Amino acid sequence: MQRDKPLVQVQGEQLIPSNTRMYLFPPLTAEVRRTLEDLPRLIDQVFPLPRRFRVTLYRETAELSRLLTSSRGERSDSYLTRKGLLSAYLRYFLPWNSYRLCRLLPGLALDFAAGDAVLDLGAGPLTLVLALWIARPDIRQLPLEFRCLDRSAAALNAGKRLFQALAGASPWIIKPIHAPLGARIYGPKVRLVSALQVFNERFEKIPQADTRALQEAADKTSRLLSSLVAPDGSILVLEPGVPWSGEWLAALRSALLKQGKVPYAPCPHQGACPCPGGKAKWCHFSLDTEDAPVALHNLSAAAGLPKERAPLSFLLTGPRGAAQETLQGEENTLAVRILSDRFPLSYPSNRYGRYGCSERGLVLVIEGDLRKSGTSGELVLLKPGSPEKRDPKTGALMMDMLSLLKQGAYWA
Ligand SMILES: C[S@@+](CC[C@H](N)C(=O)[O-])C[C@H]1O[C@@H](n2cnc3c(N)ncnc32)[C@H](O)[C@@H]1O
Repeated sequence: MQRDKPLVQVQGEQLIPSNTRMYLFPPLTAEVRRTLEDLPRLIDQVFPLPRRFRVTLYRETAELSRLLTSSRGERSDSYLTRKGLLSAYLRYFLPWNSYRLCRLLPGLALDFAAGDAVLDLGAGPLTLVLALWIARPDIRQLPLEFRCLDRSAAALNAGKRLFQALAGASPWIIKPIHAPLGARIYGPKVRLVSALQVFNERFEKIPQADTRALQEAADKTSRLLSSLVAPDGSILVLEPGVPWSGEWLAALRSALLKQGKVPYAPCPHQGACPCPGGKAKWCHFSLDTEDAPVALHNLSAAAGLPKERAPLSFLLTGPRGAAQETLQGEENTLAVRILSDRFPLSYPSNRYGRYGCSERGLVLVIEGDLRKSGTSGELVLLKPGSPEKRDPKTGALMMDMLSLLKQGAYWA
């Protein structure tokens, strides 16, 4: 596969890195949707659960959800080696995480060529491998190697069995690595290093107010990730869509920038992150889940965990190209990544708005009657008003959708 794409594309009035996608979270294709619909059945087939254990499953699912969110302090390091909790992870968290990833991965600039390797840290039951196989049919026939590291051998083994059931005879080679984060990894550097929903478990004990300790952890992590990835490779980190994740990803983003890794997504710029979490807005997207598998919605409701929205925070970074040094916005236009859902504004009243991210910081995008602000994850090109106005509550630059120049798919 060719990788000699231009480092910068001229999109209308602005220069945008070629790895920046205009439209994140494209809808699921019919095929991906069907495979996801079938996933809960496949999981039941590979890991049969007698009917009498169903009630226990709902209880264990609720318990695991509690241990992963409100009662983190009670969770032991070996939680995914406990049979009941692993079963709950496989039947509830794995399909939901796969759904989230199937919405995310096709919108990311992730190129693979025959012989490439991927290193997934905190791989659990191989959620990333399964989701890549489901969401990227274009790479199913490529010989790729997946090195999957986790401290739970039981989770890795379960994932391997599930992948075999899903993919059958596949050219993908799965290499489980039963080891802690930071363990020495042998073999050549990889095309993609990923770490999905793992750093929150590793660093959750750092108090949120201790920004210095968080930055130190981010610096150390950025050195680890950079040491594992090939010079032209990418790093993908995903975390739950909670304020801690915004803070962590902002710290990691700035640490990775120091290692020469620039953000490709979701950021439309390389400046400081304007959504660093805490009390301010934190960077996250909230997917609606209407097209998630019905069986999964049913299980979630039975466990008392109905899921209408699937929030997530993520960062995709990669090497800086020489041409990217010259990146700059044309005067008086601003590329804004829409982040939040629409909400009613108190000022101007009777209007709706959404928060967005830009190189000028947080933006409050104000919708007009005829100009709705697209969807969360979309990139819009706007013109700041004159004189510029700031939102009194957040200090965000207020921009009117009436000034829209380009939107999502209509950039090119
Ligand atoms: C919430 S699960 C995420 C699994 C998978 N990445 C996903 O997105 O579904 C977190 C995983 O990280 C692993 N993990 C947490 N801390 C770890 C550490 N210090 N070393 C190795 N694995 C770790 C856990 O065993 C668990 O499998």
